[in-house]
Amino acid sequence: MKKALFIASCLAALLMCSAGVVSAATERLSPETAQCLTCHEEMPGVVRQWEDSAHWSAGVGCYECHQANAGDADAVDHYGFTVAVIVSPRDCAQCHPNESAEQEGSHHAKAGDILNTKDGLLGQTIGGEPAVAVGCRQCHGSIVKVNADGTLDPATWPNTGIGRVNPDGSKGTCSACHTRHRFSKEQARQPETCGKCHLGPDHPQKEVYEESKHGILYRAFKDELNMDQPKWIAGQDYFDAPTCATCHMSATPNQDVTHDVGTRLSWNLRAPISKRTADWEQKLADMQDVCVACHGTPFIEGFYLQLDAFVGFYNNKFAIPAKEIRELLMEEGVLTKRDFDDKIDWIYWELWHHEGRRARHGAAMSGPDYAWWHGIYDVAKAFYTHLLPEAKEACEKAGKPELYEQIVAKYIDGRPEHQWYTKGFDPKQLEEIKKYYQERYQQDVK
Ligand code: HEC
Ligand code: HEC
Ligand code: HEC
Ligand code: HEC
Ligand code: HEC
Ligand code: HEC
Ligand code: HEC
Ligand code: HEC
Repeated sequence: MKKALFIASCLAALLMCSAGVVSAATERLSPETAQCLTCHEEMPGVVRQWEDSAHWSAGVGCYECHQANAGDADAVDHYGFTVAVIVSPRDCAQCHPNESAEQEGSHHAKAGDILNTKDGLLGQTIGGEPAVAVGCRQCHGSIVKVNADGTLDPATWPNTGIGRVNPDGSKGTCSACHTRHRFSKEQARQPETCGKCHLGPDHPQKEVYEESKHGILYRAFKDELNMDQPKWIAGQDYFDAPTCATCHMSATPNQDVTHDVGTRLSWNLRAPISKRTADWEQKLADMQDVCVACHGTPFIEGFYLQLDAFVGFYNNKFAIPAKEIRELLMEEGVLTKRDFDDKIDWIYWELWHHEGRRARHGAAMSGPDYAWWHGIYDVAKAFYTHLLPEAKEACEKAGKPELYEQIVAKYIDGRPEHQWYTKGFDPKQLEEIKKYYQERYQQDVK
């Protein structure tokens, strides 16, 4: 885009100028990069993308990024040059030390470390290696292995997962968001960038955003958001809608842009039971500082009041009891202590990992359909119609029906919010509902 304009303006300045453009560009490029180009014009996709990038304008060429030392694990001899295919965050750090350090300190950089988790067990054992390679690792990142000749092991690459472990030991891939060879911040600011990974049944941030007012406004006024501006501050460069980047990364009048996406989160919402993050008060203040460009304090505080109440409610009404009931059944020998071999293991897993996360993500990013219908409705359905009946059956099968009675006494009858399950709905409430329908639709409830 920039280059097209550049050339167009030169054409307007007539003849001698076009020769000037070529020499100005080549002067900025190193002789090595000029050599790369002689052959790589044959890969027009790579070269044109790069020519449209800030790197081209700054004279950062093929060689500046791909050069390697002969001792590097993934160095290859390439027509007289020593190059590496992977340009790792450590390579980018030579020119972008802040972004690389922040990225390295973030959860994103740790995302490749997932084998010793319940998800890992599910992927590796219940699924299998080929599924992990094209599934989990394309989001989380592979451990890139290098063959003896310096080429990359095809079982582990291509891969641009967010926590990829690179041959030089660095973690992450900048091109997970800044797709090569444009390496554009304008592109990274768009929600679609994050949506490669942040979607689906267990973390539908993209879908939640799309249904939120913010997502609606983004689609309506995308062209007016000036996403190519250098700083891109809400309230200065644009006014209509925040994107994922706005809230989680971009600068505000009081904060610099950050490549640690966790710095504005006061909760861990993806855990089975949500807990506060370390230094959560500061993180909360930093997120609220994003909202003030477009919302007043009572609005922002009201939003957080609703969110905090919702997270507490999810934890206490469903997540903690579900976890405790399953643990009790394991302790009493009704279930095995192994994961995923009893039906309840799966019910509990989906209750927090799918349904419970969806609910919390819906509440945190203003997607009411995810907070309720894809969220708490599904959680409640799992709790009352799957987990409890399955617990009953398992107790009976194990010859311990009294254990289920104890569970009911403690978790259901002992808690007003669950009593309806054994005692039925409150008759007074039912009477009021009946009246409501009669007055509203002149009809009786059957
Ligand atoms: C003499 C021609 C030639 C020169 C000079 C050259 N390349 Fe290449 N390069 C190629 C060809 C051809 C391929 C494609 C190989 C293939 O598809 O198997 C390639 C592939 C690559 C790859 C991808 C390798 C892979 O395994 O996927 C990188 C990275 C690369 N070149 C970088 C460079 C850089 C950087 C320079 C300059 C320092 C350079 N090349 C100079 C011809 C050249
Ligand atoms: C800003 C740094 C940077 C510059 C400049 C750059 N590259 Fe790359 N290149 C990368 C990154 C990052 C990747 C992705 C490697 C990975 O992580 O998988 C890549 C990948 C490649 C690949 C493999 C792509 C594929 O799909 O097979 C080729 C070929 C390549 N670069 C050639 C070039 C050439 C030719 C130039 C100059 C016109 C160039 N690069 C300039 C950073 C750069
Ligand atoms: C040799 C130095 C150098 C290397 C290596 C380098 N960059 Fe850059 N990069 C620059 C310069 C100079 C600019 C333009 C000025 C600026 O925006 O900071 C730039 C700009 C950028 C931008 C802003 C683009 C925009 O839309 O304005 C991004 C994103 C970026 N680089 C990412 C990367 C990534 C990712 C790598 C590694 C794969 C990398 N850079 C490697 C020097 C470098
Ligand atoms: C579509 C991309 C994608 C796929 C495929 C995927 N994940 Fe994830 N995973 C994510 C994202 C995004 C998060 C963070 C969700 C959040 O914060 O709400 C995450 C979270 C996790 C976490 C929690 C990390 C923590 O710090 O709490 C684990 C563990 C995990 N994934 C493992 C796996 C495994 C193992 C697989 C394959 C069996 C897998 N994931 C498949 C994108 C993916
Ligand atoms: C999670 C996605 C993501 C990853 C991964 C990522 N970036 Fe960025 N980056 C962004 C976004 C979004 C912006 C634009 C923020 C803003 O100003 O609105 C950006 C901006 C930048 C800029 C421009 C900074 C400025 O102040 O103008 C540079 C340079 C950059 N990134 C380099 C890197 C490097 C180097 C890496 C790898 C170490 C990296 N990025 C990894 C999303 C990402
Ligand atoms: C290539 C996949 C991928 C992309 C692209 C990606 N993420 Fe992530 N993100 C993940 C995974 C995986 C995790 C979970 C990491 C973990 O804890 O192991 C995560 C975690 C997060 C977290 C939680 C961080 C924390 O400290 O708890 C936030 C916030 C986040 N991402 C925001 C973003 C934003 C904003 C973008 C786009 C600008 C983005 N991500 C792009 C995969 C991705
Ligand atoms: C209007 C601001 C805003 C926008 C836009 C936004 N988020 Fe969020 N996001 C939040 C808030 C607020 C939270 C919860 C913060 C807390 O924990 O205090 C959150 C939480 C998260 C988390 C943490 C989930 C966890 O498991 O703990 C991830 C990941 C995330 N957002 C990703 C995204 C992605 C991807 C997009 C775009 C598709 C996006 N967000 C858009 C404000 C936003
Ligand atoms: C760039 C401006 C902008 C930023 C920044 C922004 N919002 Fe909004 N937000 C809006 C606009 C405009 C609306 C639509 C108001 C309406 O309903 O007319 C909105 C709506 C909302 C709604 C109402 C959702 C609904 O369905 O009625 C909530 C809640 C909200 N924002 C929370 C936040 C929070 C929390 C932050 C900061 C983390 C934030 N917003 C940041 C512009 C912004």
